[in-house]
Amino acid sequence: MSASLQATTLQTRPLHPEIGVEVLGLDLSRPLGAGTIAELKRLWAQHLVLLFRGQSLSEEQQVAFSELFGSLERAPEGKWSSSRNPAVLRVANTTETGNKVDPEHMFQRYFATLAALWHTDSSYRAIPAYGSMLHALEIPPSGGNTCFANTIAAYDVLPAERKRLLEGRHMVHYYGFSRLFEPTLPPISADDLRAFAPVTHPLVRTLPDGRRCLFLSANVAWYVGGMPIEQGEALHRELIDWATQDQFVYSHEWRVGDLLLWDNRPTMHRVLPYDKSYRRVLQRTSVAGTEVPV
Ligand SMILES: [Fe+2]
Repeated sequence: MSASLQATTLQTRPLHPEIGVEVLGLDLSRPLGAGTIAELKRLWAQHLVLLFRGQSLSEEQQVAFSELFGSLERAPEGKWSSSRNPAVLRVANTTETGNKVDPEHMFQRYFATLAALWHTDSSYRAIPAYGSMLHALEIPPSGGNTCFANTIAAYDVLPAERKRLLEGRHMVHYYGFSRLFEPTLPPISADDLRAFAPVTHPLVRTLPDGRRCLFLSANVAWYVGGMPIEQGEALHRELIDWATQDQFVYSHEWRVGDLLLWDNRPTMHRVLPYDKSYRRVLQRTSVAGTEVPV
């Protein structure tokens, strides 16, 4: 019998009418059975965002859990990743030894600016990430929510005339564009520039199961092919505004111990502001994609 036929029923609670469920009753630091894993994959595909509360995962345990869903990406500018686990990106305003970092440090400002814009992780790759996971270790008393938009639902109800306009159109995604938000930073290394050359992706992406979604990213995507630059920028802005209306967006208020998974392909996310005098430490892993967007 295949794993999908053995799927175990898990208790869930909706987070938002259009996106996300909380999965109850699992300790992700312990090995999971094939039936549970199959059910998590099914729930993830259906709801796009999964939340598990009350977890306590070491970097190694988070890596092990993430690898159930595929191989892991390594982020560019690797010095910001964990020194012990290059597949773990520290989304943190502290050093690894626990000291608070100056919020005005240029890389802190840079990453904060990029994270505050609606985006799709690693859309600058020829094969963008399948999914990402964030585990909350230290959280400010308020603010710093991460918001997720369902771009399948947003595409579904787009006016027919807009759908026709988008058909067959592509955008350029390039990690180097992100430097425009903080031009005082040192240049991107030659290795990263080689590894992350500009790519084009369709504005409307068709997932392997046939669902269609908007595929946008405000921090690394620019020119729309076949139209003047200003017109493409205006269209990109219009689509991001459309896809991030409240009816498509879940805003997650973090608690220590949360582990949140999102399907990175048919969603966008961004971080809301918070008081930078507080510590905020999350560890992220990203599961590599397997398909070139079409
Ligand atoms: Fe992100």
